[in-house]
Amino acid sequence: MKKIFAANWKLQKTPAQAKEFCETFRAQLVAHTYFWDHKEVFIFPQNFSLDTVIHATNDTPVFVGPQNIHFEKSGAFTGENSAAFAKDMGAKTILLGHSERRQFFGETNEALNKKVKLCQELDLLPVFCIGETLAQREANETEKVCFEQLTQSLNGIDKSKRMIVAYEPVWAIGTGKVATVAQVKEIHEKLYHKMSDLNFTNFQLLYGGSVKPDNAQELLQVPHVDGFLIGGAALEVDSFMKICSH
Ligand code: PGA
Repeated sequence: MKKIFAANWKLQKTPAQAKEFCETFRAQLVAHTYFWDHKEVFIFPQNFSLDTVIHATNDTPVFVGPQNIHFEKSGAFTGENSAAFAKDMGAKTILLGHSERRQFFGETNEALNKKVKLCQELDLLPVFCIGETLAQREANETEKVCFEQLTQSLNGIDKSKRMIVAYEPVWAIGTGKVATVAQVKEIHEKLYHKMSDLNFTNFQLLYGGSVKPDNAQELLQVPHVDGFLIGGAALEVDSFMKICSH
C-alpha cells in the first residue's frame, strides 16, 4: 500500500509562496516514478492559494483540496466555501474535522457527518481528522472520544468508498509534543479494528501531531500507520521532502 504524506498549510502561504513551494517540489519529483509508485502526496492550502496549487501540480498525482467546506453545495451561506466549486476547480480531496475547526469554529460530529456525505456525493476523498484533548487523555477517554467521532461523523455513509482517517491528538498539534510510539501503536491498533468492525473496506489511517523529519521514520514503522498529516514541517519543501522520503 502506498504511504500517504499530507500537508496542512492552515492559514499560511500566499499564492506566490504556494507556487514557489510547488515548483520546487515538482521539479524534484515530477519524473520520479519510483516515488509516485510508493507514495501519495496531499496538499491542503488556504483557499486563496487553492487554484495556484492545483495548477502548479497538475502534471503530478498530488491530491489537492481545501481545509474545510460547507455542508451545502450552494445557497445563502455568506462567507462559506463550496465543495462543488472546489471540485469544479480541480480539487480531489477535502480535509475535514481538524481539531482547530472543532475547537475554534464549533464544528460538530453532526455537521461533519453532512460534510462527509457531501464529499462522497461529489467523489471527493475525505481526510477526516479525529483526536482527543489532553484533558480527555488524562481522563482515560481517548478511545471513547475517537470512537464517538468516528461513529457519529461517519454514520450512514458508503463504507466501500475510500476514506482516510487522520488520528491527531490535540495536545500534540503544533506543540512539539509527539505521541510516543507506544501511544500511537495502541490507538492505531484500536482504530484499525474499529473501522473494520464498522465495515469500512477501503480506509487508511494517518498520524498527525508534531511529525518532523527526525521522528517520521519510527512513527511510520508503527503498524496501521499508513502515513502522516503534517502541519509545521510541511511548510518548507526541504523538511516535507525529508518526511516523504521515508
Ligand atoms: P503539526 O500540525 O504538524 O504542526 O503539529 C499537524 C496538524 O495540525 O495537522
